[in-house]
Amino acid sequence: MKVFVTGGTGYIGSHTVVELQQSGFEVVIVDNLCNSNIQVLDGIEKITGVRPEFEQFDLTDEKATRDFFARHRDIKAVIHFAALKAVGESVSMPLEYYKNNLNSLMNVLLSMREFGVKNLVFSSSCTVYGQADVLPVTEQTPRKQAESPYGNTKAMCEDILRDLAKVEKDMNLIALRYFNPIGAHPSACIGELPNGVPNNLIPYLTQTVAGIREQLSVFGNDYNTPDGTPVRDYIDVIDLAKAHVVAIRRLLDGKNKANYEYFNIGTGNGVSVLELIQAFEKATGKKVNYKIVGRRAGDIEKVWADTTVANTELGWKAGVPLVETLANTWRWQEKLGKG
Ligand code: NAD
Ligand code: UD1
Repeated sequence: MKVFVTGGTGYIGSHTVVELQQSGFEVVIVDNLCNSNIQVLDGIEKITGVRPEFEQFDLTDEKATRDFFARHRDIKAVIHFAALKAVGESVSMPLEYYKNNLNSLMNVLLSMREFGVKNLVFSSSCTVYGQADVLPVTEQTPRKQAESPYGNTKAMCEDILRDLAKVEKDMNLIALRYFNPIGAHPSACIGELPNGVPNNLIPYLTQTVAGIREQLSVFGNDYNTPDGTPVRDYIDVIDLAKAHVVAIRRLLDGKNKANYEYFNIGTGNGVSVLELIQAFEKATGKKVNYKIVGRRAGDIEKVWADTTVANTELGWKAGVPLVETLANTWRWQEKLGKG
């Protein structure tokens, strides 16, 4: 059974390809390598013994996308990861973000409809909830106006899926709303490859411990949280990858209850920045050099998932303990070294 994975050499995509192949699926990847490296395929092959099929082109190219589907008539389902994802960058380059993230989804959907591919899993984000009034957030929590063009592309893509599902009754679509993905494969063969100075907490932290950055700045300790630092739901990338396999099976087995569904993919636990630093120190025995600085613009105070629906409907539950996730992340950083 062949699954088409867009953005499959990226961080979450590569871990999902591993889980798909280990679950018996055949995979074909398309990636334009704008934020990933072709050597990721070596890592996937090393773990699974199988090198996935790969084509390099830009999914905003409608003709190239159509030609690809025309050549691959055996695709049964699609997982659409390909997107630009840097929140800050999206504020300064809104047109590039709207063009890339909306047009790539549109081209994939147009070709799916034309070539009769019925099943799609889409990478969404808890960013669609903003700062929710009630925590934890359930799937029924109202979405809020996005804080950034990036966040807005996720909300708009969800709307496209919802509207399409209303008229294309035999197309089956699932959006997975990821909370904060972290971690790396325990083999240290694949992991996150941040481009330039990382914006996200974990790559900045591990690069600081590795001596690439001098000090981690903790953005604010005056929030209304137990220790004053913001709270997030950090989900292990392997658990997240497995959620995609479960979602794909649900679609292929016809177990979905509606032809557009969306699920929170998190652990259900809120962890503060200081708690995460302490957990990292416990997991690795390494000291993190950090200092408290002012708040970062656009940050929300706290968010974590109610995962009841994913647990009961999907039959999926996060399982990797946080200390293990952090130990895997550090093993990956050690492998990357200072490069
Ligand atoms: P990533 O940048 O590592 O992977 C995305 C991949 O898509 C990259 O390999 C990139 O080269 C490719 N790509 C981008 N635009 C493309 C295009 N037009 N054509 C072909 N390939 C293209 O990012 P990731 O962290 O693996 O994220 C995967 C998905 O999950 C994205 O949609 C992202 O928005 C979403 N998401 C990520 C997070 C997170 O914290 N990492 C959180 C919520 C949602
Ligand atoms: C951000 C995005 C979110 C996106 C996610 C994954 C914003 C507002 N949200 O989430 O849409 O889905 O990344 O790409 O940007 N922190 C520090 N020091 C640092 C870095 C981060 O203290 O150097 C803190 C932040 O204040 C935050 C927490 O760590 O409280 C997590 O930050 P980060 O990893 O950037 O993720 P989010 O901001 O939650």
